[in-house]
Amino acid sequence: MKNFQKRETFIPYNLPDLTEAEIREVEETLKSLWVAKGPRTVKFEQEFAGYLGAKHAIAMNSCTAALHVALLSAGIGPGDEVITTPMTFASTANTIIHCGATPVFADIDYSTGCIDPDEIEKKVTKKTKAVVPVHYSGQVCDLDRIYEIADKYGLFVSEDAAHAFESRYKGRLIGNGLKGAASYSFYATKNLTTGEGGMLVTDDDEIDAKARIWAGQGMSRNAWNRYAKGGTWQYDICEPGFKYNMFDIQAALGLIQLSRIQEMQAKRIAIAEKYQREFSKIDAVEPPLVPDYATHSWHLYVLRIVPDKLTIDRDRFIVELNERNVGTSVHFIPVTNMSAYTGRFGFQKGDFPNTEKHFERIISLPLYPTLSDKQSDYVVEAVRNIVETYHK
Ligand SMILES: Cc1ncc(COP(=O)(O)O)c(C=O)c1O
Repeated sequence: MKNFQKRETFIPYNLPDLTEAEIREVEETLKSLWVAKGPRTVKFEQEFAGYLGAKHAIAMNSCTAALHVALLSAGIGPGDEVITTPMTFASTANTIIHCGATPVFADIDYSTGCIDPDEIEKKVTKKTKAVVPVHYSGQVCDLDRIYEIADKYGLFVSEDAAHAFESRYKGRLIGNGLKGAASYSFYATKNLTTGEGGMLVTDDDEIDAKARIWAGQGMSRNAWNRYAKGGTWQYDICEPGFKYNMFDIQAALGLIQLSRIQEMQAKRIAIAEKYQREFSKIDAVEPPLVPDYATHSWHLYVLRIVPDKLTIDRDRFIVELNERNVGTSVHFIPVTNMSAYTGRFGFQKGDFPNTEKHFERIISLPLYPTLSDKQSDYVVEAVRNIVETYHK
């Protein structure tokens, strides 16, 4: 390792930002003895919807659950096709299969990593009933074009907003003014975390009513308070539903995290701006390109290498970062490369050229509110040193 002062401790790729306030609220929840779904979950739903300016928010135990319920509530089922992107986590596509429908993949726009609307339109058939665009990494899909196609062919749009809390499209928060639904993730690495958790957001009263039934064991009434004074023991199961609800210990974390979101987000933005500034000076890497219409949430910082300028590939670049004590990840191995999908659909190399090109180049770098200035400076120096060492 020439011309490089290696640090002694490892910089993890991600850490949640949890303070005494979150710990106190969880403790209060435990002491209240309302540890399952209860008043804090309801409050979190109301505050989350209020923050986005959305009509309904339904708290779930994951974004996967929210994605599943969104499609079920829109009536997606066997015989239907749902178009989505290969550049996502498997649950985006798995939940389509869980509904009994068929996922159909449309290639990405290389500039953003998000699904390409022109590719969506090419994949529409008589069986297509819905689209699941993913706001990949916190970038924002070309929503006007997607909704134009959805209107033209009568498709339901279920936005996968797992990465998009704090993303904006033309100045509006994702989740504000929705025509379909949006699903958020509160997994440990996300901009707002409840450990595990998710939220389904919609302005549509019918989707909201159905989603609460599907996510709550199929119970016909809001049963979370049936043990309270005045609650009734009677209920009906009107759908064979799922046990997908959030509970109050998670909501306690969510409420505090939501109250801290601006402070946490400001730190993410400062790090991302530094990375954007510094990496744009290095010709062998490509910083993310944020379109004019978008405000990036900076959930992930996905740097792409330029293979033509380097003597090493992405995999080796990751090893070199690791040797310099920098943790990384890759978002994502395309779903269409996974054996459950290649086996079922017979995908081949060349089917999704932009996804493949993107995948071969990507590295997710450390980006989280508790990453110090010194640590983010070090990440920049490590990338610079690797490029200098292996430049063609
Ligand atoms: C794009 C995307 N969609 C959906 C999910 C599923 O989220 P969860 O783990 O909350 O179910 C993830 C997970 O990180 C994701 O990255």
